[in-house]
Amino acid sequence: MNAGRFSGKIVFVTGAASGIGKEIARQFLDEGATVVGGDISEENLAIAQAEFGEQFTPAIVNVTLENNVEDAIGLAMSKFGRLDIAVNNAGVSRGAPIIDLEESAWDFTVDTVLKGVFLSTKHEARAMKDNKDGGVIVNIASLNAHVPMHTGSGYASAKAGVEMFTKSSALELAKYGIRVNAVLPGLIDTPLTQRRITNLPLMEVWMTRIPLGRAGLPADVAEPTLFLASDAARYITGTSLVVDGGWEITGYPDLSKFT
Ligand code: NAI
Repeated sequence: MNAGRFSGKIVFVTGAASGIGKEIARQFLDEGATVVGGDISEENLAIAQAEFGEQFTPAIVNVTLENNVEDAIGLAMSKFGRLDIAVNNAGVSRGAPIIDLEESAWDFTVDTVLKGVFLSTKHEARAMKDNKDGGVIVNIASLNAHVPMHTGSGYASAKAGVEMFTKSSALELAKYGIRVNAVLPGLIDTPLTQRRITNLPLMEVWMTRIPLGRAGLPADVAEPTLFLASDAARYITGTSLVVDGGWEITGYPDLSKFT
């Protein structure tokens, strides 16, 4: 932690009420920022607010709905007058083998993961573009942007889309001084992955592919995210930072027997 590194900064984080997003919000708060935390879960947002106190403003938002996203960023702008940093982290996965995958499950996953990042970026960039010192956007994609997984075709395809959308955004938004990068986490221990993390035979297979020998923690992703959001990364835009304990080196394990 670098106390005060983000003092005075206004930060918007989506999916801020759980897992990786909540830890990102916590670290920004610890380092002096004011955070507007967007999430679809009103209940978990209330828990986060009780935990974080008044430097954290909750915003109920469904990132797949443009008017919701506009309202959440509008709340940040009306309350604080500016937006400096945004982390587009909200994500879900509703998977099945391709031959059984319902169109509605595909749409739910792809809309949340990919359209959610587009809508968020659009309105974040509008809010940031007149800042004298620009802005920063970090998109939380996934190692699945590079590596496919059984029953995760929609999720992996959408995350690959997030990586390309990150590059497109970096290209278009550089003229406003807005940097845009992606973080690609591997297996991280959060509510999203509990069903897998607690499946010991599955984890045994998985661990043969993760050279650092453990699942990551939300803090393992939050710290690199804050680095990309910080001035230390001022010459970095349009790139991806893989945060996976070395898993990409070895490839995805064959987990088909567990699906
Ligand atoms: P999580 O399930 O703990 O947190 C996700 C948060 O997003 C929840 O609070 C949820 O309410 C919120 N959310 C879901 N749909 C939303 C919507 N439509 N609008 C607004 N908020 C919404 O999950 P976790 O693990 O913290 O995931 C965070 C991000 O990291 C996701 O994008 C996920 O795909 C990505 N990721 C996670 C990995 C893992 O192993 N946990 C690995 C790679 C990427």
